[in-house]
Amino acid sequence: MSQEEEIPFTSVGEEGMLKLNEVAQVAIEDTQILLVNAEGQYYAIQDLCTHDDAPLGQGRVVGCEIECARHGAKFDVTDGSATALPAFRPIATFPVRIKDGVIEVQYKKPEPPKFEDPRIGFQPFPSA
Ligand code: FES
Repeated sequence: MSQEEEIPFTSVGEEGMLKLNEVAQVAIEDTQILLVNAEGQYYAIQDLCTHDDAPLGQGRVVGCEIECARHGAKFDVTDGSATALPAFRPIATFPVRIKDGVIEVQYKKPEPPKFEDPRIGFQPFPSA
């Protein structure tokens, strides 16, 4: 059994709870994540803009992107990639499935962010 299969799915709501381009904050364990209906599919993403650690829940969804309400960074909800500045680091995404009319998310606590210098790529935080 792979590590992905060992992570349980958690029920977060009923199928149909979100209209197209709607976003809902849902709690899994002690963490708030976002459930997004983008292009008719549900996606689960981290509720954290990587530009300035702001929540993304007030963001606007257009196509497969969510736009941060603060400074306009955009993220692809399908893979978490940053698609518009000022953010350049990705957000975490989580697998979603519909089972018997219930939306389930396979949540795994995201890895701590790494410092990324866009000129040289990912780097670990410098040690003291
Ligand atoms: S905090 Fe999201 S774009 Fe600045």
